Amino acid sequence: MRRSSVNHPRRQGNPIPQRTYQPRKGEGLLPGARARQDVIAALDVGSTKVCVLVAELSEESEVDITGYGVAPSHGMRRGVVVDVEGTVRAICEAVEKAEHMADVRVRSVTLGVAGTHVQSFNNRGVIAIAREDKDITEEDVARALEAARVLTIPPDRDIIHVRPREFIVDGFDGIRDPVGMVGNRLEVEANIVTGSTTSIENILRCVARADLEVEGTVLSGLASGEAVLHPAERELGVVVADIGGGTTDVAIFDRGGLWHAAVIPVGGDHITNDLAVGLRTPLAQAEKVKIQDGVALVDLAPADEFVEIPDVGGSRTHRVGKRALAEIIQPRVEEIFDLIVKEIKKSGREGMLPGGIVVTGGTALLRGLDEVGQYETGLPVRVGYPQGQAGLADLVRNPGCSCAVGLVHFAAQNLLAKEEAGAAEPLSGLFAGIFGKVKNWFKQSY
Ligand SMILES: Nc1ncnc2c1ncn2[C@@H]1O[C@H](COP(=O)(O)OP(=O)(O)OP(=O)(O)O)[C@@H](O)[C@H]1O
Ligand SMILES: [Mg+2]
Repeated sequence: MRRSSVNHPRRQGNPIPQRTYQPRKGEGLLPGARARQDVIAALDVGSTKVCVLVAELSEESEVDITGYGVAPSHGMRRGVVVDVEGTVRAICEAVEKAEHMADVRVRSVTLGVAGTHVQSFNNRGVIAIAREDKDITEEDVARALEAARVLTIPPDRDIIHVRPREFIVDGFDGIRDPVGMVGNRLEVEANIVTGSTTSIENILRCVARADLEVEGTVLSGLASGEAVLHPAERELGVVVADIGGGTTDVAIFDRGGLWHAAVIPVGGDHITNDLAVGLRTPLAQAEKVKIQDGVALVDLAPADEFVEIPDVGGSRTHRVGKRALAEIIQPRVEEIFDLIVKEIKKSGREGMLPGGIVVTGGTALLRGLDEVGQYETGLPVRVGYPQGQAGLADLVRNPGCSCAVGLVHFAAQNLLAKEEAGAAEPLSGLFAGIFGKVKNWFKQSY
């Protein structure tokens, strides 16, 4: 017997669940199933789709994906909520699909945060090690990170992440993990990511209205990097560009950590739009022709092949060469890579990223996109597929799922860290302000 639909807010007549629902212990599980503490869920609310993954941690701490749900997203624009009802409905639909597949009830999620409001900068935190033994502990690292976040942030912005780039002990720099070392003075060079308070509150509100708690929040670009990068790339210096529908999340990693993050307001939907305008066809047709016949590089398009494109009215069609399609697509792809290069320059890592660019997100599936990226940026470009998970691995081995898969990995790390810390108090202040609504802390590791 599957779970009853009665009492399930996401299956009642009203498509928008109200927050009156009080989950009961054990509800929603198949008979005989235990209320597992090790079930984790990820929620990526994108501009074109909402993706939910449910996973379990195996005995060996491997991520085993057991549920997958996707719903079209109509309430987001460039990573920002523009329609609360539409967003809540899409979240509920995706959660419900993932719940059905995994046969568990999802009560809390790890949420991806994105949007063009995201900004990143660097700051230094300094503390003295006052104890007699001079041993640097995890608490000292947390204090140094706290010190790094003490800076004037406009009242309309909130801190999303404070991530250490390197530590400096008594003037010696380049230290990855100072715990266990001795020293008098600990400095941390940290990358701080902030976002608009209103934009973050709006997405948190949508998640709450879908009857979900937020276990933790992770910058979407950071999550995508977690899913597609090899540790060696992160060490060498690499750019992750998650080219989605409305935005491109850029995250630059170096020496194992996040160096710079930004969200560019251009994505695959702009290509669709260009095709709709250029071919005088409805958006849905432009999207279809982009996916079926579009290539990013004109040289890859056969000169003697044509496609029938419906007119805006829908009653007639006209013939367009595949090369003409590519001629519309290529300039937009070049623009996206030019904007990525601008972010590389801003980060100060130009010429220091031998790992090149790893493109992911749905638009990374556009044939020839990596080649355009390569000649436009002069860097090696590869398409990144999510790695390192079992279970429904085939279903999510798609660049469009990178962010959600990365969120699952973060959720797993958080769960393990919590288990390790036992009933330890959360690190104070890491999620101050509006993130006070977020249930748990995330280990601020590399
Ligand atoms: N096979 C394909 N070829 C080309 N483009 C594709 C393909 N599959 C998906 N896309 C494009 O990928 C985009 C959606 O990507 P993705 O699912 O990563 O976006 P999102 O996460 O919803 O949006 P965002 O990250 O911008 O908020 C759409 O523009 C879609 O047209
Ligand atoms: Mg996305």
